[in-house]
Amino acid sequence: MNTTIAHAASSGRIELLVRQIRMEAKDIHSYELIDPDGRPLPAFAAGAHIDVHIAPNLIRQYSLCNDPAERHRYVIGVLRDERGRGGSKALHERLRVGDRVTVGTPRNSFELAAGSGKTILLAGGIGITPLKAMAHVLEASSADFELHYCARGPESVAFQAEMTAFAPGECLHYHFDGGNPANGLDIEALLARPVDGSHLYYCGPAGFMEACRKASAHWPAGSVHCEHFKAPAAAQPSTNARDDSACVAEIASTGQKIVVRQGQSLAEALQAAGLPVETSCQSGLCGACKVRYLCGDIDHQDYILDDDARREFFTPCVSRPRSGMVVLDL
Ligand code: FES
Repeated sequence: MNTTIAHAASSGRIELLVRQIRMEAKDIHSYELIDPDGRPLPAFAAGAHIDVHIAPNLIRQYSLCNDPAERHRYVIGVLRDERGRGGSKALHERLRVGDRVTVGTPRNSFELAAGSGKTILLAGGIGITPLKAMAHVLEASSADFELHYCARGPESVAFQAEMTAFAPGECLHYHFDGGNPANGLDIEALLARPVDGSHLYYCGPAGFMEACRKASAHWPAGSVHCEHFKAPAAAQPSTNARDDSACVAEIASTGQKIVVRQGQSLAEALQAAGLPVETSCQSGLCGACKVRYLCGDIDHQDYILDDDARREFFTPCVSRPRSGMVVLDL
């Protein structure tokens, strides 16, 4: 029995080999990553993502979209975004079959909830990636689910052949809008009447996320789950009325007090003090920096923690105490 897991270093990083790159749809490539020595990879659950270290100081998060039951590979899908910050372009242009790439071990802030009710998966464009992994799990357990995939047209649909092969036709619904959301899926109508015990998961670009958020606002607490690619524009730190005044973080185990300067993130202050706080997205999207706190009135600015989690944790890359003081469980 091979119990050696691909050098899941204590650093949380592993070096993988690019085994295959496929054009999945217009401007979308999938990258299949394997251990160079064929060892099994660290397990992941549907909804997980990995950090991909594209170049020094260029780290991006991509959802794992293959079946979580697979241990021999990770597959990510990457949409080339000409107006993005350069990560997807660099991957499309530079990464080649046979290259080695450093990735983080999987992290998950978008897990499937336990339950036997119906699951609705709602994907906008490249938002299909985490939802495809969920569909693998739901299909394997014969769960009641439907996957709605919204795209501009058939040329923009990634993984179509694969999904058609594993998901029954009645579960899979494609909605094409030709570039005008008004011609696409009527999200409001779809989500108008939540069924008892059902859960909704959605992921996609900003306008799609906002439409899903509005249409599901009346769903019961805890039944709606989403993952953002980037912080919604209206809530970017630069434009939001976020309080970034100076504050103090106390380390519970040592009593050390760390002053966080105005304009500095709490995560930066902790790192500057030599504390082991990992960061990745710096936007409250990935959960890498999540820290447990023992007291403090936190101004939560993340996009991943629900109300329950926020009573215990916060993401110091974007969040800080309103009260001026927080005690960290470190
Ligand atoms: S670094 Fe990603 S949530 Fe803080």
